[in-house]
Amino acid sequence: MSNVFASKHPLVLHKVTKLRDVKTEPKKFRELVREIAALLTYEATADLLVEPRQVQTPLAVASGAELQEKIGLVPILRAGLGMVEGAWGLMPSAEVWHIGLYRDEKTLKPVEYYNKLPVEPTVSVCLILDPMLATGGSAVATVDVLKRWGVKKIKFVGIIGAPEGIRLMQEHHPEVPIHLAAIDEGLNDNAYILPGLGDAGDRQFGTG
Ligand code: PRP
Ligand code: URA
Repeated sequence: MSNVFASKHPLVLHKVTKLRDVKTEPKKFRELVREIAALLTYEATADLLVEPRQVQTPLAVASGAELQEKIGLVPILRAGLGMVEGAWGLMPSAEVWHIGLYRDEKTLKPVEYYNKLPVEPTVSVCLILDPMLATGGSAVATVDVLKRWGVKKIKFVGIIGAPEGIRLMQEHHPEVPIHLAAIDEGLNDNAYILPGLGDAGDRQFGTG
C-alpha cells in the first residue's frame, strides 16, 4: 500500500469525525468537505514540480519558485463538487474538468453521463476529487477516462476509502496515488462504506 496515504493530520482527523456525525447538517457538512479537501490537497501536491523564479520585493530581488505543471481538478459528479473550492482555493489557476458518473444501484457499476473533455489534454497533472472510494468502480472508470485523454500524472483525492476500493484501484491503476482522510472497515451489503458517513452526495445537497 505504498501508494496509499491516509492523513494523520490532527485537523483532518478532527474534521472527519464531525463529518461522519449523523447530526451534522448539510451546511456544516459542505463546509467540512471543503476544508478537508483543502488539507488533503495540500498533502497530495507535495511533489508537484516547480521552476526557479525571481521576484522583486520592495527591497531586493528574491529567489523563489513557481509551479511548473498545469493542474486539472477533476470532481466526480456529484459528490466531488463539494471538494472543488477547497482544492481550487490553493491553486486558483487550475482548470476544473467535471466527470459525471453515478453508481447503478443494482449492478454497482459506474454509469458515465457527463464528459466534455476536449480532444487534446490541456493539463499535465489531474487530481480526481471524490469523497467516497467504495467499490472503486467510479474511481477506476475516471482514471480510465483521464488516461485515454492523455494525462500522464493522475492522483486520487478522497475522504473515506474502503479496502475493497483501494484494492480495485491498485489492481487497475497501481501507479495512481490515493490520498484519503480515513480508511474504513469495508462495505455493507449495499456497498456503502462502514462506518463511513452515509451518502456523501445526499448529505451535501440535502437530498437524502
Ligand atoms: C458516490 C461517490 C462515488 C461513488 C463511490 O457517488 O461520490 O462517486 O459513489 O462508489 P464506488 O467506489 O462504489 O464507485 P454516487 O454514485 O452515489 O453518485 P452521486 O455523487 O451523484 O450521488
Ligand atoms: N457512496 C457514498 O456516498 N457513500 C458510500 O458509503 C458509498 C458510496
